[in-house]
Amino acid sequence: MTERETWATRLGFILAAVGSAVGLGNIWRFPFQTADNGGAAFLVVYLASMLIIGIPAILAEFVIGRRANTDAIGAFRSLGKSNWRFVGAIGILASFWTLSYYSVIGGWVARYVAGSVTGSALAAPEGYFGAISVGLPSVVTHAVFMTTVIVIVAAGIERGIELATKFMVPSVIVLLIGLAVYAVTLPGSGQGYGFFLTPDFGVVATNFTSILPLAFGQALFSLSLGFSVMITYASYLGRDDSLFADGLLIAVTNTFVGMLAGLVVLPLLFAAGVQPGEGGVGAVFISIPTALASLPGGGLVGRAVGVVFFAVVLVAALSSAISLLEAAVAYAVDTFGLGRVPAAVGLGVGAFALGIPSAIDTAWLEWFDGIGVTLLLPLGVLSVVLFVGWAMGSAATEELRDGMGLGGVSPIWLWTLRTVVLLVVLVVVALNFQDLFLTPNAGDYYIVPPLG
Ligand code: PFF
Repeated sequence: MTERETWATRLGFILAAVGSAVGLGNIWRFPFQTADNGGAAFLVVYLASMLIIGIPAILAEFVIGRRANTDAIGAFRSLGKSNWRFVGAIGILASFWTLSYYSVIGGWVARYVAGSVTGSALAAPEGYFGAISVGLPSVVTHAVFMTTVIVIVAAGIERGIELATKFMVPSVIVLLIGLAVYAVTLPGSGQGYGFFLTPDFGVVATNFTSILPLAFGQALFSLSLGFSVMITYASYLGRDDSLFADGLLIAVTNTFVGMLAGLVVLPLLFAAGVQPGEGGVGAVFISIPTALASLPGGGLVGRAVGVVFFAVVLVAALSSAISLLEAAVAYAVDTFGLGRVPAAVGLGVGAFALGIPSAIDTAWLEWFDGIGVTLLLPLGVLSVVLFVGWAMGSAATEELRDGMGLGGVSPIWLWTLRTVVLLVVLVVVALNFQDLFLTPNAGDYYIVPPLG
């Protein structure tokens, strides 16, 4: 049997994990979700979610992955708890499911890079989005994006994912910083900063039950939790890494990038007098180009900024999508002994096919996204928290302590996981389920697919 792959360097693992975390969630969803939910008020709940749930939960996934050293479903068998295999299965299902429509959006973003070069994306934003986001054009860009993902994953952990993310993640960060600095110079951007950074706690208090699951869901999605992805990535780690330090660094970097994205998007919108308040999948694709078109300096500046902005989103989306495919590929390789290349091609083509409805009609995309984020994700996280907190017990603290240096933290972590984290995740699951199954929306329940 050939030896299982590993990350070549610790930095390689960190960059790959940051690459997974930083994606459409940070740049496409986060600034608009913040805008839709009272600006800075949402940000505060989001940051609290990161700290209280995100960091303990990412460590939980790392602990499972590194201890087991195998794919996310096999991990539970190898930890001696076969009947917990469903946890890994939910995660792998969630990542495969999410990849299907994530790649559709990735395809649109690629199209917007080209559309910014030619200027057509900026000329009539609504019409442009309407034309490229449905039907054949959308299926074609979905295929192109997915092919790129397949190629990188097929190349392997070290020579594919690690090598690619080593370039991708630093480029995303540097270019976003550049864009954020540019945004400062825009006349009228000040209001955007105020909106993003001055919290109104009254808004949080009155909308707590709706803001809470959104902010928590966003924090977990953003850290790629509940999808078996971090379990899988940590399974390629050596024993001498500090999971604690790595987890902290990954969470902080991810939050930093989300903040940066907010500091680019909101000032840009405010400077252009574009209302950020309209949510939905198209938000970023319509309001950003509208804002870009009105930038000082004539059309050229808007196009140049557009190319950089959408290229950043594209690269971030790619480095997340490869992690989504890797979770399922690792399962096929480790459990069934399949070659990495046929596994990546087979599963990638499968996810492409599953994404076709989303590519054809955005109502399907919204439905897929909703099921992924409100059903599969919280269930995945809840199961991981229960497993590590209550089924693994001392093996978990032992694993976290390995390579850490700060031994005292691990019992506190386990205790937090068993109590605070579990409680909050339970509340979030309950609120989401109420939303999915009990709240009729335009005559239907959300769980019903948009068939009509
Ligand atoms: N974290 C990614 C984002 O914010 O866009 C999305 C994601 C990737 C979610 C991988 C889950 C995952 F397993």
